Amino acid sequence: MSNDPLLQPYQLKHLTLRNRILMTSHEPAYPEDGMPKDRYRAYHVERAKGGVAMTMTAGSAAVSKDSPPVFNNLLVWKDEVVPWMKDLTDAVHEQGAAVMIQLTHLGRRTRWDKANWLPVVSPSHKREAAHRAFPKKMEDWDIERIIKDYADAAERMKAGGMDGIELQAYGHLMDQFWSPLTNELDGPYGGSIDNRLRFTFDVLTEIRKRVGPDFIVGVRYTGDEDLDGGLTKEDGLAISKRLKESGMVDFLNVIRGHIDTDAGLTDVIPIQGMANSPHLDFAGEIRAATEFPTFHAAKIPDVATARHAIASGKVDMVGMTRAHITDPHIVRKIVEKREDEIRPCVGANYCLDRIYQGGSAYCIHNAATGRELSMPQIIEAAETRKKVVIVGSGPAGMEAARVAGERGHEVIVFEAAPHPGGQIRLTAQNERRREMISIIDWRMAECERLGVTFHFNSWAEADTVTAENPDVVIIATGGLPHTDVLAKGNDLVVSSWDIISGDVKPGANVLVYDDAGDHAGLQAAELIAQSGAKVEIMTPDRSFAPEVMAMNLVPYMRSMQKLDTTFTVTYRLEAVERQGNQLIAHVGSDYGGVVKQRIVDQVVINHGTIPLDDIYFDLKPGSSNHGEMSHDQLLAGQPQSVVRNPDGAYQLFRIGDAVSARNTHAAIYDALRLLKDV
Ligand SMILES: Cc1cc2nc3c(=O)[nH]c(=O)nc-3n(C[C@H](O)[C@H](O)[C@H](O)COP(=O)(O)O)c2cc1C
Ligand code: SF4
Repeated sequence: MSNDPLLQPYQLKHLTLRNRILMTSHEPAYPEDGMPKDRYRAYHVERAKGGVAMTMTAGSAAVSKDSPPVFNNLLVWKDEVVPWMKDLTDAVHEQGAAVMIQLTHLGRRTRWDKANWLPVVSPSHKREAAHRAFPKKMEDWDIERIIKDYADAAERMKAGGMDGIELQAYGHLMDQFWSPLTNELDGPYGGSIDNRLRFTFDVLTEIRKRVGPDFIVGVRYTGDEDLDGGLTKEDGLAISKRLKESGMVDFLNVIRGHIDTDAGLTDVIPIQGMANSPHLDFAGEIRAATEFPTFHAAKIPDVATARHAIASGKVDMVGMTRAHITDPHIVRKIVEKREDEIRPCVGANYCLDRIYQGGSAYCIHNAATGRELSMPQIIEAAETRKKVVIVGSGPAGMEAARVAGERGHEVIVFEAAPHPGGQIRLTAQNERRREMISIIDWRMAECERLGVTFHFNSWAEADTVTAENPDVVIIATGGLPHTDVLAKGNDLVVSSWDIISGDVKPGANVLVYDDAGDHAGLQAAELIAQSGAKVEIMTPDRSFAPEVMAMNLVPYMRSMQKLDTTFTVTYRLEAVERQGNQLIAHVGSDYGGVVKQRIVDQVVINHGTIPLDDIYFDLKPGSSNHGEMSHDQLLAGQPQSVVRNPDGAYQLFRIGDAVSARNTHAAIYDALRLLKDV
């Protein structure tokens, strides 16, 4: 038996958890019709196979009809959920993991214009900034029916074979009762702390009546809202003790902070560049004060920190949630002494930002996550060994090299730069986004393990590639900044990349024209503003930086609002002219008629990239498929078999930004889904 603190079993009531690592509840927005169907099950089963002790399903599963999902959550108010749950819990149990579910009523943290168009409810009319709905102030009959809804849902989950449930309090209805900021009811459910907790204890009492004393029930809550007038740490400690003393709760799952704004949420679930394990000591204080089973998660991305969390006795079970979205097989790798092979979570929060944007959770650099039914988390070796030549070592090229290496092929990579990484290397120049380089470093380490050959500082031409006699050629050369977008004056502007790379010095009075709306625009603007310059960020879109998304925007705003920056939406830069040592920027609008001018000393354009594809077109005539990729075969997960030129010597494919400007995830997915079948 290992003496690794992380691998020690944990006894929670009658339930033996096989180690100390859990995935806390997180809704990846994979339900279909509100049900946990095949995709959902496959996602959790993969993590159970990977060795996690417990996976907490859902994330805000809705107990009531007037708690419509904000990001495609499970609808546990429906009876039809029970057989789906049973399939899921059986399949997870078969792999030796425990499985629970988080239940909630969102209260005001949702919208009325979803699902049934019922008014949202809360213990006050106060609106939540993030979801914007003005709630109905709850009446007695609202409270009664929702208490019953919780109990009904708990009963369904027990019938569905769950090992237990967790009630989500923070930011949701329960905590809207708890917090003086959001509870304006008079007694018996408003006023004193006893009254504000009454709803929770009424729910727990009703649940216990239905599921009995043995079923495991926990609460996930904030122990300190960290907000003026909100719940304090003292309140949090008092609430923790009351939950324990109620005798109705079996574990505490504690977080710190508030989630009513994007900024608040980002402090609760920290993004890259923010400190690791910021609330671990706080969780430790709750555990010490209550001496009660305590779980906690908040940016504990690596095994060493998780081990410290357990060894130091700060928590009983440590959450490594996003870490498991990135690598489902963490525990297996710990057990097999392959910790250094764990694919690291880089805190990009692409997973989270996507769900808030209405999509499903994808990991920025594991394209198999959420696609377990079609993409392998573990790549199998190919039957025949081929020679694969890859040009370019950005995210697409590196993923192609890794996957081809796992397939057992002979892999050769040509890279013009002295280091791998492509655009990610530029991204990582921002101190806050430094973690991004692990996307490349991990792949580089894997490629070394798999015996991939790299030629750096090596500008490959078509004959460099053909001289290798490859069976398959992958062009992953990425793109170059595209600034040629003006009617006049394209020669007078610089690109966001010129600024980020340091090739061009920032001006003093700068217009950043960003109609790509991705990180590069903001990253360049921030760098320029940090140099002391005045910066206007202009976009023709309705909002600025739409591709950056909510939580990723927070650190930029925290930095840039302190600097001399302004944001202008709905205006389009049309032309630039020189006037002495200044530039005149002519600005129009898609809405018609308006023409304005800006006088600046530098114009920076962020308009994505244009493919760097000469080598692809040079190699095309000699290939057997003339570069064609069968979309039918790609989507069906079959090997590519297009033949357009029977005399061709090799198959040729283009992936990532060498095809068209997209993002890191798209580049990696391009590579994985093609190369897994080569
Ligand atoms: C895609 C996604 C969805 C989430 N949804 C929920 C949720 O519905 N309820 C909840 O309590 N926490 C939710 N979380 C937060 C996680 O449970 C966890 O607290 C957070 O990711 C921090 O832990 P980590 O750093 O180990 O990932 C979500 C996280 C992610 C990544
Ligand atoms: S998208 Fe980023 S934060 Fe989310 S799991 Fe992947 S690496 Fe981690």
